[in-house]
Amino acid sequence: MRVGILTGGGDCPGLNAVIRAVAKSLIKSAGAEVIGIEQGFLGLIERRVRPLDLRSVAGIMATGGTILGTHNKANPFGYFGAGGADVSERVLAYVRELGLDALVVIGGDGSMAIAHQLAERGIPVVGCPKTIDNDLAHTDRSFGFDTAVAIVTEALDRLQTTGQSHGRVMILETMGRWAGWIALHAGLAGSADIILIPELPYRLDEVARVCREREARQRYTLICVAEGAKPEGGGVTVKERIADSPEPVRLGGVGNVLRAQLEPMLGCEVRTTILGHVQRGGPPTPFDRVLATQYGHAAAQLVAAREFNRVVVLKGDHIESVPLADVAGRSRNVPADHPLLRTASDTGISLGR
Ligand code: F6P
Repeated sequence: MRVGILTGGGDCPGLNAVIRAVAKSLIKSAGAEVIGIEQGFLGLIERRVRPLDLRSVAGIMATGGTILGTHNKANPFGYFGAGGADVSERVLAYVRELGLDALVVIGGDGSMAIAHQLAERGIPVVGCPKTIDNDLAHTDRSFGFDTAVAIVTEALDRLQTTGQSHGRVMILETMGRWAGWIALHAGLAGSADIILIPELPYRLDEVARVCREREARQRYTLICVAEGAKPEGGGVTVKERIADSPEPVRLGGVGNVLRAQLEPMLGCEVRTTILGHVQRGGPPTPFDRVLATQYGHAAAQLVAAREFNRVVVLKGDHIESVPLADVAGRSRNVPADHPLLRTASDTGISLGR
């Protein structure tokens, strides 16, 4: 077999661990030939591929990013390099020319949507879920999430000591556009006093009340806010719009907005830290390395068994697979009845409501 592999969308710790596991499993167990496609779907459009042998995937388990490169604008069904034209015929012809029996796509909901369109045009695809946001449908955990949570938790630990020393309100803004998984998990782990997530619009007066109450007793307050959090009746804070991107809206800055609103309502100073892409860089945690390896191995097994157009997912402790069509373009938010929300409020964390 000849199998292509690509990483699409934003990068994420653990991508290399997946590439390594897919390549090793396919080469060692299935005797397959593996072709690395560079910069996501752009490599299929611009004909940039290279062979991946055992040596090229050696020593990459602990490295962040992706050895193949990625791209979050390249879409064969609307290619920015051709004025948004559909160049999928060109891609299909190139896949045939390469002699690929299968394509492994490691990506988020956007990449899965493209993979699904390619599958409908006859390319045998196996998907592997990637996003630090942990918001892909039908999987309990995407790799990269645990690493992001660890980074945010460490930041909260550090903000706590400086906030405590100065008697300040410290706001930490995390990634998480539409889903608040990172802020919720890290907020709990980093003992935030207030956690604000996109799914639960917050009330400013309630946030200020908690800060004032703590000002009187503990002197400092730790707020963990997801970039997609918004006030009741208000909208998200948009940082920029990237015109030719499949997902044009980039969020960011809600931490600064909150600071400007809160400070006049409080007697103490407020400081904001925006972690941004720090959450996506660097080595994956051991948990993410294991999960990424399991995903890569499971994806290779699907390919070897010729079970195509499926995505590997984690359900509880088990790696399973679901139809690509069920995952494509879908996301998974924090449900209002999620047990962690109850844990947070019952242990005295305010959710801003
Ligand atoms: O979806 C992953 C993510 O990291 C989001 O949490 C974040 O809002 C976005 O990607 C940032 O995208 P970019 O790297 O294009 O700025």
